Amino acid sequence: MGIILPCNQDIANVKALGKLFLLAVFSREERLRGGDKILLAPKRKKNYLIFNHSVTTYGHPTMKVLLTGSAGFIGFHLAERLGFSLPVVNLDSINDYYDVSLKYARLAQLGFAREQIRAGELISSRRFPEQRFIQLSLSNKAALSELFAQESFTHVIHLAAQAGVRYSLEQPDSYSESNLSGFLPILEGARHTKVQHLIYASTSSVYGLNETLPFSTSHSSDHPLSLYAATKKANELMAHAYSHLFALPTTGLRFFTVYGPWGRPDMALFKFTQAILANQPIPVFNEGKLKRDFTFIDDITAAIAALLNKAPEGDPRWDPRHPELSSSSAPYRLFNVGASQPVGLRDFISCLEQCLGKKAQLELLPMQAGDVAATWADASPLAQELGFSPSTPLAKGVEAFVRWYRHYYGV
Ligand SMILES: NC(=O)c1ccc[n+]([C@@H]2O[C@H](COP(=O)([O-])OP(=O)(O)OC[C@H]3O[C@@H](n4cnc5c(N)ncnc54)[C@H](O)[C@@H]3O)[C@@H](O)[C@H]2O)c1
Repeated sequence: MGIILPCNQDIANVKALGKLFLLAVFSREERLRGGDKILLAPKRKKNYLIFNHSVTTYGHPTMKVLLTGSAGFIGFHLAERLGFSLPVVNLDSINDYYDVSLKYARLAQLGFAREQIRAGELISSRRFPEQRFIQLSLSNKAALSELFAQESFTHVIHLAAQAGVRYSLEQPDSYSESNLSGFLPILEGARHTKVQHLIYASTSSVYGLNETLPFSTSHSSDHPLSLYAATKKANELMAHAYSHLFALPTTGLRFFTVYGPWGRPDMALFKFTQAILANQPIPVFNEGKLKRDFTFIDDITAAIAALLNKAPEGDPRWDPRHPELSSSSAPYRLFNVGASQPVGLRDFISCLEQCLGKKAQLELLPMQAGDVAATWADASPLAQELGFSPSTPLAKGVEAFVRWYRHYYGV
């Protein structure tokens, strides 16, 4: 169980408490996550520090984080995980790539009510005292640069992007705007305000035509199969240039098919669940002969949070004649973040059928343009760095998704 100490939000004494880690500073009744084993202070006349043996701090008192993409699937979960532990400015344009009411519902869960939100205005969370939100597009370069100058972020986690492989065949402009032009003001802001660590989202899609499994960050990723993958690869290259030129520490994370509660409606698990419950057939591409390294959302956010404090340093042994692709003489690093347990599409569907208690009708279709047949992460460098790697079993993760889906949609 935890320990509660009265305090005045002066968290300087935290280090003196040895193995206990700061979990939260808060001043009023909050809805806390189950499983966090948090003791609530009986009287709330003062602020309280809450400590718990089982929870690790993600940083130190002087950190201030910009988190982009917070209305999105991964950003929302990360904001929730960072919750009480760090001051965070959340940013998202709340675009309509998919149902915006899901994005507003996620934001509401973080304590940002829809009626409070005004474009370009920073608002405070009603749930996490040190979290704020701003609705802002990455295309508003002047406002972004002002935000960086005003807030002096120490760390940036950049997840905002136009995601989705297939959509990049229909709306390429959206990818160049959000992922290419949109990444530049983040790099520029981080450069000019001397951010200590920029973490940004890349994707397993960068491996493209590469068929050497498992995918390793030491393998080539120069043959993307979609514009989406090409923009993410470009982000990695842009980050390297800034790491080299301005000594900006950057970490690129290649996520592998992330799934879980509050997930994206354009992804397979969501679409399949929706269709099965509505007695509609589900599209099964490449006649089911596809494998994906499905990675549970909590494993992804745990890895990002744990990496926050681990800014890369340039590797003095890095050899430019035999360049290792995942590191550099500059403070630059790439990691795969994946479960390392590829699952066949048919097995994935069986698992979902079990959780739903219902059989799926399959519509067997050919391979889709832009898709790869299999993904499989070699996440051993991540495990080496953090001492852990994604481990949630598929059945547990799918069950958590189905539970959330049924509750959220009342089905
Ligand atoms: N979910 C996955 O399986 C997966 C896999 C690999 C990589 N990624 C990457 O991880 C990141 C997060 O993905 P996600 O699944 O949470 O996607 P998401 O679409 O749910 O979230 C992205 C958020 O970014 C915001 N956004 C987009 N363009 C913006 C802009 N120009 N300005 C401000 N905000 C903007 C959107 O409104 C959205 O809320 C993305 O960079 C994505 O490419 C995701």
